[in-house]
Amino acid sequence: MDAERIRNYLEFYQDLGIDWVYRRTPTPPVAAVETAPAAAAPEPPAPAPPTRIEMADRAETLTQILTDIGDCKRCALHQGRNKLVFGVGNEKSPLVFVGEGPGADEDAQGIPFVGRAGQLLTQMIENTAKKEGIQLKREDVYICNVVKCRPPENRTPEPVEMEICGQFLYRQLVAIKPKAICALGGTAARALTGHKEGVTKLRGKWLSWKDIPLLVTFHPSYLLRPYNQDAKREAWEDLKKVLHFVYD
Ligand code: URA
Repeated sequence: MDAERIRNYLEFYQDLGIDWVYRRTPTPPVAAVETAPAAAAPEPPAPAPPTRIEMADRAETLTQILTDIGDCKRCALHQGRNKLVFGVGNEKSPLVFVGEGPGADEDAQGIPFVGRAGQLLTQMIENTAKKEGIQLKREDVYICNVVKCRPPENRTPEPVEMEICGQFLYRQLVAIKPKAICALGGTAARALTGHKEGVTKLRGKWLSWKDIPLLVTFHPSYLLRPYNQDAKREAWEDLKKVLHFVYD
Protein backbone atom coordinates (compact mmCIF):
# COMPACT_ATOMS: atom_id res chain seq x y z
CA MET A 1 0.00 0.00 0.00
CA ASP A 2 1.44 3.41 -0.88
CA ALA A 3 1.89 6.30 1.52
CA GLU A 4 -1.01 8.26 0.02
CA ARG A 5 -3.49 5.44 0.75
CA ILE A 6 -2.17 5.02 4.28
CA ARG A 7 -2.58 8.76 4.87
CA ASN A 8 -6.16 8.57 3.57
CA TYR A 9 -6.92 5.70 5.97
CA LEU A 10 -5.46 7.58 8.91
CA GLU A 11 -7.35 10.76 8.02
CA PHE A 12 -10.56 8.77 7.72
CA TYR A 13 -10.08 7.31 11.22
CA GLN A 14 -9.12 10.73 12.57
CA ASP A 15 -12.38 12.15 11.16
CA LEU A 16 -14.20 9.45 13.11
CA GLY A 17 -12.54 10.72 16.27
CA ILE A 18 -10.10 7.83 16.57
CA ASP A 19 -6.74 9.09 17.67
CA TRP A 20 -4.94 5.82 18.33
CA VAL A 21 -4.25 2.77 16.22
CA TYR A 22 -2.62 -0.59 16.70
CA ARG A 23 -0.12 -2.36 14.51
CA ARG A 24 -1.21 -5.90 13.74
CA THR A 25 2.16 -7.39 14.80
CA PRO A 26 4.99 -5.57 16.58
CA THR A 27 8.01 -4.99 14.39
CA PRO A 28 11.15 -6.49 16.01
CA PRO A 29 13.77 -3.86 16.85
CA VAL A 30 16.38 -3.50 14.16
CA ALA A 31 19.98 -3.55 15.41
CA ALA A 32 21.94 -0.50 14.35
CA VAL A 33 24.63 -1.67 11.98
CA GLU A 34 27.27 0.58 10.56
CA THR A 35 26.98 -0.13 6.86
CA ALA A 36 26.94 1.93 3.76
CA PRO A 37 23.35 2.84 2.77
CA ALA A 38 22.07 0.26 0.35
CA ALA A 39 21.34 1.59 -3.07
CA ALA A 40 17.60 1.88 -3.73
CA ALA A 41 16.50 -0.52 -0.96
CA PRO A 42 12.95 -1.76 -1.52
CA GLU A 43 10.28 0.00 0.60
CA PRO A 44 9.19 -2.11 3.59
CA PRO A 45 5.59 -3.28 3.38
CA ALA A 46 3.14 -0.87 5.01
CA PRO A 47 1.28 -2.13 8.08
CA ALA A 48 -2.26 -3.23 7.37
CA PRO A 49 -4.87 -0.68 8.49
CA PRO A 50 -6.29 -1.47 11.92
CA THR A 51 -9.50 -3.45 12.06
CA ARG A 52 -12.48 -2.33 14.12
CA ILE A 53 -11.79 -5.05 16.68
CA GLU A 54 -8.17 -4.02 17.12
CA MET A 55 -9.28 -0.44 17.66
CA ALA A 56 -11.77 -1.55 20.29
CA ASP A 57 -9.24 -3.62 22.18
CA ARG A 58 -8.12 -0.95 24.61
CA ALA A 59 -9.39 -1.21 28.19
CA GLU A 60 -11.36 1.92 29.05
CA THR A 61 -14.40 2.90 31.06
CA LEU A 62 -17.85 3.66 29.70
CA THR A 63 -17.43 7.24 30.91
CA GLN A 64 -14.28 7.59 28.80
CA ILE A 65 -16.11 6.24 25.77
CA LEU A 66 -19.02 8.63 26.32
CA THR A 67 -16.59 11.52 26.65
CA ASP A 68 -14.96 10.45 23.41
CA ILE A 69 -18.33 10.40 21.63
CA GLY A 70 -18.93 13.96 22.83
CA ASP A 71 -21.27 16.05 20.71
CA CYS A 72 -20.93 13.51 17.91
CA LYS A 73 -21.32 14.64 14.32
CA ARG A 74 -19.51 11.71 12.74
CA CYS A 75 -22.54 10.66 10.65
CA ALA A 76 -25.75 12.21 9.34
CA LEU A 77 -27.90 10.78 12.14
CA HIS A 78 -26.82 13.59 14.46
CA GLN A 79 -28.86 16.04 12.38
CA GLY A 80 -32.21 14.80 13.70
CA ARG A 81 -31.04 14.03 17.22
CA ASN A 82 -32.50 15.51 20.38
CA LYS A 83 -30.49 13.35 22.77
CA LEU A 84 -27.73 10.89 22.13
CA VAL A 85 -28.67 7.50 23.61
CA PHE A 86 -25.49 5.87 24.89
CA GLY A 87 -26.66 3.03 27.13
CA VAL A 88 -28.08 2.35 30.56
CA GLY A 89 -27.66 -0.09 33.41
CA ASN A 90 -24.99 -1.91 35.30
CA GLU A 91 -21.53 -1.19 33.92
CA LYS A 92 -20.34 -4.53 35.35
CA SER A 93 -23.30 -6.57 34.16
CA PRO A 94 -22.62 -10.11 32.98
CA LEU A 95 -25.41 -9.65 30.43
CA VAL A 96 -25.77 -6.95 27.76
CA PHE A 97 -28.82 -6.45 25.54
CA VAL A 98 -28.16 -4.75 22.22
CA GLY A 99 -30.98 -3.20 20.19
CA GLU A 100 -30.99 -1.38 16.87
CA GLY A 101 -31.27 2.33 17.56
CA PRO A 102 -33.29 4.83 19.57
CA GLY A 103 -36.92 5.58 18.75
CA ALA A 104 -38.82 8.79 19.52
CA ASP A 105 -39.16 8.19 23.28
CA GLU A 106 -35.52 7.22 23.64
CA ASP A 107 -34.43 10.25 21.61
CA ALA A 108 -36.49 12.50 23.91
CA GLN A 109 -35.14 10.98 27.14
CA GLY A 110 -31.63 9.91 26.17
CA ILE A 111 -32.27 6.40 27.58
CA PRO A 112 -32.57 3.19 25.51
CA PHE A 113 -35.72 1.08 25.49
CA VAL A 114 -38.11 3.34 27.38
CA GLY A 115 -40.98 3.39 24.83
CA ARG A 116 -43.52 0.61 24.24
CA ALA A 117 -40.90 -1.83 22.98
CA GLY A 118 -38.74 -0.95 25.96
CA GLN A 119 -41.54 -1.58 28.41
CA LEU A 120 -42.07 -4.99 26.84
CA LEU A 121 -38.34 -5.71 27.08
CA THR A 122 -38.32 -4.72 30.76
CA GLN A 123 -41.32 -6.96 31.47
CA MET A 124 -39.77 -9.83 29.57
CA ILE A 125 -36.48 -9.58 31.47
CA GLU A 126 -38.03 -9.17 34.91
CA ASN A 127 -40.95 -11.61 34.53
CA THR A 128 -38.88 -14.35 32.91
CA ALA A 129 -36.23 -14.01 35.59
CA LYS A 130 -38.84 -14.15 38.36
CA LYS A 131 -40.54 -17.25 36.89
CA GLU A 132 -37.17 -18.95 36.59
CA GLY A 133 -36.21 -18.13 40.18
CA ILE A 134 -33.55 -15.60 39.19
CA GLN A 135 -33.40 -12.31 41.09
CA LEU A 136 -33.00 -9.74 38.35
CA LYS A 137 -34.21 -6.22 37.61
CA ARG A 138 -33.76 -4.19 34.46
CA GLU A 139 -31.14 -2.03 36.16
CA ASP A 140 -28.98 -5.11 36.84
CA VAL A 141 -28.27 -5.65 33.14
CA TYR A 142 -26.79 -3.26 30.58
CA ILE A 143 -28.86 -2.11 27.60
CA CYS A 144 -27.62 -0.24 24.53
CA ASN A 145 -28.04 0.01 20.77
CA VAL A 146 -25.99 -0.34 17.61
CA VAL A 147 -26.51 3.34 16.73
CA LYS A 148 -26.75 6.04 19.37
CA CYS A 149 -28.89 8.56 17.48
CA ARG A 150 -32.44 8.05 16.23
CA PRO A 151 -32.69 7.20 12.53
CA PRO A 152 -35.33 9.37 10.80
CA GLU A 153 -38.79 7.75 10.80
CA ASN A 154 -37.21 4.88 12.74
CA ARG A 155 -35.69 3.49 9.54
CA THR A 156 -33.04 0.78 9.72
CA PRO A 157 -29.58 2.33 10.18
CA GLU A 158 -27.51 2.50 6.99
CA PRO A 159 -24.37 0.32 6.83
CA VAL A 160 -22.13 3.39 7.02
CA GLU A 161 -23.96 4.61 10.15
CA MET A 162 -23.60 1.17 11.73
CA GLU A 163 -19.93 1.09 10.81
CA ILE A 164 -19.21 4.50 12.31
CA CYS A 165 -21.29 4.10 15.47
CA GLY A 166 -20.42 0.41 15.78
CA GLN A 167 -16.94 1.30 17.02
CA PHE A 168 -18.54 2.74 20.17
CA LEU A 169 -20.72 -0.34 20.67
CA TYR A 170 -17.63 -2.52 20.34
CA ARG A 171 -15.78 -0.38 22.86
CA GLN A 172 -18.73 -0.56 25.26
CA LEU A 173 -18.70 -4.36 25.05
CA VAL A 174 -14.95 -4.53 25.56
CA ALA A 175 -15.29 -2.25 28.61
CA ILE A 176 -18.13 -4.29 30.14
CA LYS A 177 -16.80 -7.76 29.20
CA PRO A 178 -20.14 -9.50 29.78
CA LYS A 179 -20.54 -13.25 30.13
CA ALA A 180 -23.13 -13.15 27.32
CA ILE A 181 -24.74 -10.77 24.84
CA CYS A 182 -28.36 -10.87 23.73
CA ALA A 183 -28.85 -9.30 20.27
CA LEU A 184 -32.37 -7.97 19.83
CA GLY A 185 -33.38 -8.32 16.20
CA GLY A 186 -31.63 -8.64 12.87
CA THR A 187 -29.77 -5.33 12.86
CA ALA A 188 -27.99 -6.02 16.15
CA ALA A 189 -27.31 -9.61 15.06
CA ARG A 190 -25.80 -8.42 11.77
CA ALA A 191 -23.73 -5.69 13.38
CA LEU A 192 -22.22 -8.05 15.93
CA THR A 193 -21.87 -11.34 14.06
CA GLY A 194 -21.81 -10.37 10.39
CA HIS A 195 -24.44 -13.04 9.70
CA LYS A 196 -26.76 -11.97 6.90
CA GLU A 197 -29.61 -14.42 7.61
CA GLY A 198 -32.88 -13.11 8.99
CA VAL A 199 -33.64 -13.20 12.67
CA THR A 200 -36.01 -16.18 12.33
CA LYS A 201 -33.03 -18.28 11.14
CA LEU A 202 -30.59 -16.97 13.73
CA ARG A 203 -32.70 -16.77 16.87
CA GLY A 204 -32.20 -19.19 19.69
CA LYS A 205 -28.74 -20.30 18.50
CA TRP A 206 -25.52 -19.56 20.31
CA LEU A 207 -23.22 -17.44 18.16
CA SER A 208 -20.36 -15.34 19.46
CA TRP A 209 -18.81 -11.90 19.48
CA LYS A 210 -15.06 -11.95 20.16
CA ASP A 211 -15.45 -15.26 22.05
CA ILE A 212 -18.32 -13.92 24.14
CA PRO A 213 -21.41 -16.14 23.68
CA LEU A 214 -24.16 -14.25 21.87
CA LEU A 215 -27.79 -15.24 21.54
CA VAL A 216 -30.06 -13.63 18.96
CA THR A 217 -33.75 -13.14 19.66
CA PHE A 218 -36.62 -11.14 18.23
CA HIS A 219 -36.68 -7.38 18.66
CA PRO A 220 -39.45 -6.40 21.13
CA SER A 221 -41.02 -4.06 18.49
CA TYR A 222 -41.59 -7.12 16.32
CA LEU A 223 -43.27 -8.88 19.23
CA LEU A 224 -45.67 -5.97 19.68
CA ARG A 225 -47.28 -6.64 16.31
CA PRO A 226 -50.46 -8.67 16.85
CA TYR A 227 -49.68 -11.18 14.08
CA ASN A 228 -46.36 -12.17 15.64
CA GLN A 229 -47.67 -13.87 18.76
CA ASP A 230 -45.89 -17.18 18.07
CA ALA A 231 -42.63 -15.29 18.06
CA LYS A 232 -43.38 -14.10 21.58
CA ARG A 233 -43.27 -17.65 22.92
CA GLU A 234 -39.96 -18.23 21.12
CA ALA A 235 -38.54 -14.99 22.52
CA TRP A 236 -39.43 -16.10 26.06
CA GLU A 237 -37.60 -19.38 25.37
CA ASP A 238 -34.56 -17.46 24.15
CA LEU A 239 -34.58 -15.24 27.18
CA LYS A 240 -34.81 -18.20 29.55
CA LYS A 241 -31.83 -19.74 27.78
CA VAL A 242 -29.63 -16.67 28.09
CA LEU A 243 -30.68 -15.92 31.70
CA HIS A 244 -29.91 -19.47 32.86
CA PHE A 245 -26.58 -19.42 31.04
CA VAL A 246 -25.56 -16.18 32.72
CA TYR A 247 -27.05 -16.46 36.19
CA ASP A 248 -27.13 -20.19 37.08
N1 URA B 1 -35.72 0.08 19.63
C1 URA B 1 -34.39 -0.12 19.74
O1 URA B 1 -33.80 -0.86 18.97
N2 URA B 1 -33.76 0.54 20.68
C2 URA B 1 -34.34 1.36 21.54
O2 URA B 1 -33.66 1.91 22.38
C3 URA B 1 -35.74 1.53 21.41
C4 URA B 1 -36.40 0.88 20.45
